Amino acid sequence: MAALCVVAAWTGSGPADASARCPWMSKALRPSARASKLLAAMSTADKLALLTGVDTTAAPYADGGAGYAGYVPPNPRLCIPALTLNDGPAGVADGQIGTTAFPAPLAQAATWDPVLEQSLGAALGWEAWQKGIDVLLGPNVNIARVPENGRNFEAFGEDPFLSSAMAVADIDGIQQNPVIATVKHFPVNSQETNRYSVSENLDERTLREIYLPPFVAAVEDAKVGAVMCAYGLVNVVYSCQDPNLMGTFLRKELRFDGIVVSDWNATRSAPASAAAGLDLVMPTSANAVTTLASGIDAGTVTPQLIDGMVTHVLTSMFRLGLFDDPPPPRQNVYLSHVSTPADEGVALQVAEESTVLLKNAAHALPLHLGAHETIAVVGAPAGAATSAFVGGGGSAYVTATNAVTPLQALTTRAAKAKDDVTYADGSDAAAAAAAAGSADAAVVFVYDQEREGYDRADLELPAGQDQLVEAVARANPHTIVVLDTGGPVLMPWLDQVAGVVEAWYPGDEDGNAIAAVLFGDAEPGGRLPQTFPTSDTALPTASPDQWPGAGNAQDAIFSEGIDVGYRWYDATKIAPLFPFGFGLSYTTFRYLHLKVKTRGSKVTVAFTVENTGRRAGTDVPQLYLDDPRAADEPPKQLAGFERVDLQPREATTVTLTIPQRSFAYWNTATKAWTVAPGLYRILVGASSRDIRLRGFVRR
Ligand code: NOJ
Repeated sequence: MAALCVVAAWTGSGPADASARCPWMSKALRPSARASKLLAAMSTADKLALLTGVDTTAAPYADGGAGYAGYVPPNPRLCIPALTLNDGPAGVADGQIGTTAFPAPLAQAATWDPVLEQSLGAALGWEAWQKGIDVLLGPNVNIARVPENGRNFEAFGEDPFLSSAMAVADIDGIQQNPVIATVKHFPVNSQETNRYSVSENLDERTLREIYLPPFVAAVEDAKVGAVMCAYGLVNVVYSCQDPNLMGTFLRKELRFDGIVVSDWNATRSAPASAAAGLDLVMPTSANAVTTLASGIDAGTVTPQLIDGMVTHVLTSMFRLGLFDDPPPPRQNVYLSHVSTPADEGVALQVAEESTVLLKNAAHALPLHLGAHETIAVVGAPAGAATSAFVGGGGSAYVTATNAVTPLQALTTRAAKAKDDVTYADGSDAAAAAAAAGSADAAVVFVYDQEREGYDRADLELPAGQDQLVEAVARANPHTIVVLDTGGPVLMPWLDQVAGVVEAWYPGDEDGNAIAAVLFGDAEPGGRLPQTFPTSDTALPTASPDQWPGAGNAQDAIFSEGIDVGYRWYDATKIAPLFPFGFGLSYTTFRYLHLKVKTRGSKVTVAFTVENTGRRAGTDVPQLYLDDPRAADEPPKQLAGFERVDLQPREATTVTLTIPQRSFAYWNTATKAWTVAPGLYRILVGASSRDIRLRGFVRR
């Protein structure tokens, strides 16, 4: 009904007229049948108009073009609604206002909580729909290969298994609404340096085992509506023009029938991209329309190819409900406030659950100062919850409308404990040290500022913040460092401080979350989704050939192969600063009674986790597989995890089924997933470097 009313508003004619004119509006038909009926009624011009966008200022409901990354106008004659696209990894973006700034996706991954991630996706999709948005350009599932990557904050970390789980949950949530999610950037996009021209050169096995799995999961398990191809080249072929990866792999092998959309201005030749598997050229391209039209005239672009592209776009639109449940009237939505207390509640929970306690010497945390004591809060991110500190930059930048500063929240929370808070913004290290010296504890907030388009030059904290931490730590032994960073940073002062907390880019609920964690009202429930190295050189991509790439062609050579992230640290036996999967709790856990059961090909692992401390707490036991030598795999690969909340002395049984695929490696000779016969060690632990239980299974 809603759809018909909107159609009526466009055409000025009645609903009955619209449904008679547009029989594909009948919900009784399957999405593919509706798409083919509509296709049959379209002229070539109608079709080409659906394959690229126009300037977003043409959207009558955009605020001078703000609020949307892309716009395909409606076709009222054929009852085709407009298609509006908006960036979505961390919240409804592109200059929209009144939406929730969720914690950055890397923080989302640090929760290791797909159930919560689905709630985040559902809230995000709902806000998008209310803002008149049909396509959310997220999640970003590029694997964190290079810690300096300027978009490190924007994806789910270095492990394909964890990234896949988070991506599926996010997409499931988003697509509970009549909104298309877009998994990006296919197939690889590991760096921002030379992002339009770099060729990321890697072998087939690495591509299959490390970089493609989250895309496969998004298509096969979450039925994602759209895939975005990346800017750069892979093995010297433009990603948006690659017939093997887009055509053979995505379309034929995965049978993806939804939209393949280009990254913005990533289409070099519309006909070549169309032939390779692209459907939608974004953001605008008069040239795409012209070259496709002249290709049709010249017989180099077949009508069947165009029909296939249009069918992909329409099928996703029908399947996700864009025809049947269009957003509310879009005219005035730009100014509307769509973030709800429930959405902010999800953002708060994610921020708390993602906060990783990295160091806690002598129980420095939670803060349990006596009454009438003083906490010196230091650092720019504590005093200004501006978007610059609560999120990363670029297309994933969400305007923070409701942000609470750490200073505000800590002051309020400290007052309840009858404590005082003083503040130094950190611009003057001596003043900060003086404030810390006359306080009972100091909390220093430091940041990095990742943004799309630029990689970080190195992993040091910028703007003299290491010196700031050192000065404060010298003045007060009870110094806690809070990292508002989008990824790993070096910590030369680690031995000098009592505690370290990684809060990532925490979104709107920044202050509330960190105050709850520091005072122990909430558990620092996060675990690292990415390894933190000890230096800029002790990491898998330290050579300039690997990153940012060398030579005339600026190729980035993936010579580390499948040894990405913790796989490399394990394979080379190099100790990280903090390992993948690591995070402390305010309580302690023990693991016992590992049981491995096999029934045919199904392998189930059960074990007990017990909270041995005196506080309630959260743990994330992780299961890693160590394959037989013949498989030639890294020493450990994540194959299961679960988040458990336990009361003091409470124990629970965790049961994990190891997916078949986790036992297989990509056999380049046979081009198939292959299980090497032999003994697979099952390693269960609290991080990739803290294995507590060992078992095995034969395959
Ligand atoms: C370029 C980015 O790479 C992509 O992720 C984003 O969705 C588009 N710009 C649109 O903003």
